[in-house]
Amino acid sequence: MRKKLATNVSKIIAILGDGAYHDGNSLGQSLQMTRSAVWKIIKKCQQYGIAIQSVKGKGYLLSERLILLERHEIKKHLPVTLEIDVFESIDSTNQYLRQFKQVKQPKICIAEQQTQGRGRFNRHWHSPFGKNIYLSCLYPLKKDISELAGLSLLTSLSVIKTLQSFGIQENLGVKWSNDVIYDGKKLAGNLIELQAEANAGCQAIIGIGLNVNMMVDQDHVITQDWTSLQQIAGKYIDRNKLCAALIQHLLDYLQVFLRHGFSHFLEEWHRVDSLQGKSIALMVFDQRFEGKVVGINPLGQLLLQLKNGEVKAFSSGEATVLRA
Ligand code: BTN
Repeated sequence: MRKKLATNVSKIIAILGDGAYHDGNSLGQSLQMTRSAVWKIIKKCQQYGIAIQSVKGKGYLLSERLILLERHEIKKHLPVTLEIDVFESIDSTNQYLRQFKQVKQPKICIAEQQTQGRGRFNRHWHSPFGKNIYLSCLYPLKKDISELAGLSLLTSLSVIKTLQSFGIQENLGVKWSNDVIYDGKKLAGNLIELQAEANAGCQAIIGIGLNVNMMVDQDHVITQDWTSLQQIAGKYIDRNKLCAALIQHLLDYLQVFLRHGFSHFLEEWHRVDSLQGKSIALMVFDQRFEGKVVGINPLGQLLLQLKNGEVKAFSSGEATVLRA
């Protein structure tokens, strides 16, 4: 089920955001609703996993910092024409954008929570409410699909650029093609889906998941080593500013890509490439290749030197570093 962000939820969280107790009556007065309507919204927030405590005689308390996503806050820093849909809860932001065909302008979808967030290779992408960024961008491209191998790398680079603009300079890397890592732990990933139509160019759905304020994996569902921006920076991060920066960098990078192709980004890639020179196993569907990574080509394909000396280019696959 898809739910647009309800203003009442935003308003209650904004009031409780001061860290003090607020009783049902005063919340009701501020929001011009009854105490029982307030109670219903509080219940809904608690069901989302928002840490609201209710203490008899005192009222409600937000026991963890939370700034919700606000469309106008994000748009403040972006081109006015950009369409942005913000959801309180959605199946998957990538899935949502699939319905729009042959768009002329980019379109963005962001959600507080995904109930069916998807990672690569059909994996689940953990998407708890209000913690992270789950963002997809629908982008029209006048390019042939054969030229688009670099899109995932380029998206990873735009995420790195965003993180750097938030002060994280060290220990960042990309594991070809889509894993943004910090100190070997996964911080972000992207899922690119292409829609091509005969004689009509194509459009990409670029989905980005970035761990922001997630401190624990409460449901124990994440299967790899992970980290989040708050864990790295040691402070709560306002996702509105981060979303705006991410969208801006992604759009800037896409424009350069449209004009010059991926080859323009080769230098930048080399600076963050965490696989260069490593011995890896690459799974491509059910086929396994082993070899040494000797770089990428101007299309963004991974170049793997196989045991027989042949260098083979791959457009997709999952890499695992082998111990020496
Ligand atoms: C991966 O590393 O496996 C890719 C993760 C991509 C997750 C994002 S979250 C926003 C968008 N919607 C989805 O369902 N998936 C992507």
